[in-house]
Amino acid sequence: MPEHASKDRPLRLGILLSGRGSNFLAIAESIRAGRLKGVEIAVVISNGSEAPGIAAARQLGLPHAVLVSKGRKRAEHDADMIACLRAHRVDLVCLAGYMRLLSPEFIAAFPNRILNIHPSLLPAFPGLEAQEQAFTYGVKVAGCTVHFVDEHLDHGVIVLQRAIPVLESDDAHSLAERILVEEHIAYTEAIARVAGGAYEIQGRRFVKRDARE
Ligand code: GRF
Repeated sequence: MPEHASKDRPLRLGILLSGRGSNFLAIAESIRAGRLKGVEIAVVISNGSEAPGIAAARQLGLPHAVLVSKGRKRAEHDADMIACLRAHRVDLVCLAGYMRLLSPEFIAAFPNRILNIHPSLLPAFPGLEAQEQAFTYGVKVAGCTVHFVDEHLDHGVIVLQRAIPVLESDDAHSLAERILVEEHIAYTEAIARVAGGAYEIQGRRFVKRDARE
């Protein structure tokens, strides 16, 4: 793991997004600043033409594609994405606010090679508006999770989590903003761990290989 296996060439990321793209930009900045070594962005794909994230990719001069999903069957749209990711020789797919469920075919095309970031401490609060769910529930600790994607929503093997206290002064908006700061750190760390390759997946557990030595 990961399957690109070669230390001679960078691990190539394919970023999928639908909106703002702040997690994508955090990853891009980590690479630029040398915090994320041995990794490059091979392509950024948006499923809508209006996503600010895809405009940012264009501005940064990164390879990018808009593959519009609206009105298309999921399997057909996903087949186009698989072809695009393969054409760009992507090793690891990173969902960064990609707001559409993936087909089983897509997940099977990249086994344990799709990461997602979710703004809650899974398995609590999967699905939409996780930060608001957590705030309304009254949790005292919130955070984010980077996990591998499997066929269930917000469910796959957890690579890492970052937690923060919920403050008395928080509202749902301020909590979401503070979680987002953690997301940007977490995604870089998670990609670094996966790119480093020294891990095993044991059942649901992501285990650092050197942790057992
Ligand atoms: C983030 O909160 C992420 O956890 C969730 O969607 C949001 C995307 O934000 N999956 P951005 O587009 O990366 O700014």
